[in-house]
Amino acid sequence: MAKETQLQVEAIKNGSVIDHIPAHIGIKILKLFKMHKTNERVTIGLNLPSSALGCKDLIKIENTFLTEEQANQLALYAPNATVNQIENYEVAKKLTLSLPEQIDAIFKCPNSNCISHGEPVESSFTVQIKKEEVRLKCKYCEKVFSREIVTEHK
Ligand code: CTP
Ligand code: ZN
Repeated sequence: MAKETQLQVEAIKNGSVIDHIPAHIGIKILKLFKMHKTNERVTIGLNLPSSALGCKDLIKIENTFLTEEQANQLALYAPNATVNQIENYEVAKKLTLSLPEQIDAIFKCPNSNCISHGEPVESSFTVQIKKEEVRLKCKYCEKVFSREIVTEHK
């Protein structure tokens, strides 16, 4: 990949860079993870040109490091994002996100006829990726939903 001669968003000294977020998802991630509520400096880039994605969003948060749990939850919204830990201007660690294979007891099944609503059972979805999109398949009714439908139904 050709190295850009200039960064599109200024380099940071210490903190986290969430890179390769699909375009238009950056703001959603910022809000969901309450990253805008910090007092640390946050810089964002939206619709940046990216050779891999065409267009990408990017979030930089100073003096803050994501937990592994946050990184895994992030994977649900941006499975191909990279979380870089920056220490003294260097990339000290690069986390590639891994989607959980199964998500239990967090989201409700969007199918109102699903037996998971009537029984004392916990919801359970298996995670699939199709054309870069995350889909969730309910263990009980076996219907497949887009990530948006399930997460916004919580
Ligand atoms: N970065 C930063 N501040 C630094 C160092 C790096 O904001 N002091 C950012 C870079 O702009 C980039 C990300 O952290 O968005 C990862 O840096 P690097 O690994 O050097 O870039 P790439 O090799 O392009 O990363 P990848 O292979 O993940 O695309
Ligand atoms: Zn169901």
